[in-house]
Amino acid sequence: MLIHSASQLLTTAGGPQRGHDLGNLEVIKDGAVLIEGGLIVETGASEDLLAKYPDQEQINARGRVVMPGFVDPHTHVLWAGDRALEFELRAQGRSYLEIMEAGGGIVSTVKATRKASLADLKSQTRKRLQNMFAHGTTTVEAKTGYGLEMKSELRSLQAYLELAEEVPQDMVITFLGAHAVPPEYAGAPEGYTALVCREMLPGIKKWWSKHTSRSLPFVDVFCEEGAFNLSQSRLILETAQSLGFAIKIHADEFKNLGGARLAAELGAVSADHLVVTSQEDIEVLAGSDTVAVALPCTPFGLAEGDYTPAQEILSAGGLLAVATDLNPGTAWCESMQFAVALACRYMNLSPAQAIVAATINAAAAVGKESEVGSLEPGKKADIIILDVSDYRHLGYRFGINLVHRVIKDGKYVPSEEFS
Ligand code: NIG
Ligand code: FE
Repeated sequence: MLIHSASQLLTTAGGPQRGHDLGNLEVIKDGAVLIEGGLIVETGASEDLLAKYPDQEQINARGRVVMPGFVDPHTHVLWAGDRALEFELRAQGRSYLEIMEAGGGIVSTVKATRKASLADLKSQTRKRLQNMFAHGTTTVEAKTGYGLEMKSELRSLQAYLELAEEVPQDMVITFLGAHAVPPEYAGAPEGYTALVCREMLPGIKKWWSKHTSRSLPFVDVFCEEGAFNLSQSRLILETAQSLGFAIKIHADEFKNLGGARLAAELGAVSADHLVVTSQEDIEVLAGSDTVAVALPCTPFGLAEGDYTPAQEILSAGGLLAVATDLNPGTAWCESMQFAVALACRYMNLSPAQAIVAATINAAAAVGKESEVGSLEPGKKADIIILDVSDYRHLGYRFGINLVHRVIKDGKYVPSEEFS
């Protein structure tokens, strides 16, 4: 199949982009891309590829922008119920941490998620994955973390494994058993930390190899006041590593506990949130291969003014990615287009920088940079066609879906075929 006549074919070729190198879209004007067997074979000028491959099935992009599908490298897409009541309370002035201390927050979603059946969890989650796909997200990182006990965490993993077989997206699964201290361990995070290390991590490893041939999930931890402190986070992540899991961390969302530095020290694939990270910690992180994942939908969702200091991260030479953080508490947003729009405004990224942060750099944040995130020979043909002729409309425009078509593994997937 040959997609041709793209006003701009954004290839984002050449690998993840560090520091001020961020923003190189490698645009081919009047571009085309040849796909075979679900993979990209060649990119180039439409004129050249049409002459070279005259017999291919063709999609005429008619002057639209063609680019890699978005990689959303941080989501909590699986949960049951909603937190509309808390949203209303926040609108009246209560803070996220206040609500969490009063027994709301993550723990209220945990209650609903524990009660939900596998089928129910899957149908609520499938709907959100469908929305994400329609908005151009072709690879989704997906965390557990609303079970917080072995049985419900395994049910969440089971739901993800089953959904991964059904939905068009590639799913990158993450075990976030240390998302919050569950009600049974209220006031005793040490006890729950010990449970995660001694029982859950080894148990999940065993369960995983029995149920799937996929490589092990990532292990993530919420390093935050009211969740897990630095030494508990370290213990969980080091235990995970010793069992062979690759790691991620939620760091510096509200309080700086030293999570970003820990991520760099342990070689985490990513450190996420990074809102209140100190200049010193930014430099340590930027000197490592850990990707800094900014989640601008979260401060927006909480109506807070502080965003990830992207310019400082870039000046220090860091690897920056953008994600939605899709979750019921702080950011129910399925759209990477909206994350890009926020990143342009509140992190001062140019549209080109935000697009790279949402594609090839986002792929690096889930260890998939050699498979997805750019249009280069040998990579998956995960492609979106936008209903605009200038890529800067991504970021500039918001609140509507600019995606005209989504092509996954070289196949156009109409949304009605999805479910
Ligand atoms: O990334 N930080 C922890 N987890 C989510 C919030 C989850 C929730 O409130 O349900 C986040 O913001
Ligand atoms: Fe999160």
